[in-house]
Amino acid sequence: MDMETAKLILHGQEHEFPVTVGTEGEEGIDIRKLRATTGAVTLDPGFGNTGSCESGITFINGEEGILRYRGYSIEELTEKSSFLEVAHLLIQGELPTREQLDHFRHRLTYHSLLHEDMKKFFEGFPPSAHPMSVLSTIVASLSAYYPENDDPTDIDLNIVRLLAKIKTIAAFAYKKSIGQPYVYPRNNLTYTGDFLHMMFAVPSEDYEIDPLVEETLDKLLILHADHEQNCSTSTVRMVGSSGASLFAAISAGVSALSGPLHGGANQAVINMLERIRADGGNYRKYLNMAKDRSSGFRLMGFGHRVYKNFDPRARVIKASADQVLARLGVDDPLLDIAKELERAALEDEYFVSRKLYPNVDFYSGILYRAMGIPTNMFTVMFAMGRLPGWIAQWKEMHNDPNTRIYRPRQIYVGARARPYVPIDQRS
Ligand code: ACO
Repeated sequence: MDMETAKLILHGQEHEFPVTVGTEGEEGIDIRKLRATTGAVTLDPGFGNTGSCESGITFINGEEGILRYRGYSIEELTEKSSFLEVAHLLIQGELPTREQLDHFRHRLTYHSLLHEDMKKFFEGFPPSAHPMSVLSTIVASLSAYYPENDDPTDIDLNIVRLLAKIKTIAAFAYKKSIGQPYVYPRNNLTYTGDFLHMMFAVPSEDYEIDPLVEETLDKLLILHADHEQNCSTSTVRMVGSSGASLFAAISAGVSALSGPLHGGANQAVINMLERIRADGGNYRKYLNMAKDRSSGFRLMGFGHRVYKNFDPRARVIKASADQVLARLGVDDPLLDIAKELERAALEDEYFVSRKLYPNVDFYSGILYRAMGIPTNMFTVMFAMGRLPGWIAQWKEMHNDPNTRIYRPRQIYVGARARPYVPIDQRS
């Protein structure tokens, strides 16, 4: 079969470029030789049309609302699998056998303690510190405790350490912010159960883990576990491409995730719904504001760069939100506002014509609230869920012999060359 090529005519001269086709039929024009052969570069702010790598981890079809990790649909994984199975799938490439899962769980359990000295870092933060800043700082500092080299066994150990410790770091960050004593990890609990225990247990009483909360949290972590080349994941790959350590790359990913247009959106959704409630529940006013560009207001939890029909993760969450809230006995007025807002937006020409639908963050915050997770921890929950994806993507990039340091080009539009003006001659 002839290989498909794409032709480009620049200054009357024709250039041919190979077309790479992915396993799901996606086509990419391979422009690696573009600058060398034509002298030109591409211009694609926000990288909406730029494939930065070939990857075998996650497949998304934004038009059809498909999300698969290593070929398995997100719907099936959330229904039948567990977060640790999914983490294994993403990082090792295959679902684990029972023996492999037991081994993986054992390792994650026995690496979950933080070095005692690290508590001093937490003490150094003001109580008002956002847990995402604490998380990225502590993750970066892990490289001081666990030096990194290129030995695959050492890399594997550091991956396990990171997965095991992130829940301890997250819970310690929360305990610090509310001035309660840290609760240490317990080896007899599940991954998510242990996190809930570290978050909510206090020395004066027993804390019983609600199995429904544990199960819902596990599902939410699965839903967030990977999402191909989004802002934070590309950041992880970009930082890692310089040869910087795993911990440095993941810490950068945490920082990228914190922004309100990315992972920070789940917190922003709740803030927005609270604002609407405080304003008498007048959601139409906010809908109209979102339509007016000059207002600078966006409907948080709406829209997605890739999903242009529906976000499959939002569907899974929405399907379980009512049920979980009812079983937990939570009657949240914000959920009613969210539903009204969603209904009105989905009927509104502005949102319909721009293909703006609720994304994963629109309902995840409501569920986190119902579980008692404080709003400023929502993005940390996202980071815990996304960690296996970041690690898998880092590992894929690290092991790919074709990886080059990420170094985009630009089109310079600044001042042309001009002579230096001495300071007393400047006006
Ligand atoms: N509310 C109102 N208008 C919006 C919204 C929104 N939430 N999102 C996009 N639009 C409008 C834009 O103003 C633009 O309108 P125009 O064509 O008249 O100029 C059009 O829709 C396209 O928007 P872009 O900003 O070009 O879309 P982009 O792909 O760059 O941005 C993003 C995607 C960042 C998710 C955007 O939709 C947004 O800001 N949403 C709110 C924040 C949010 O929920 N983020 C979470 C994303 S999911 C995740 O990270 C897990």
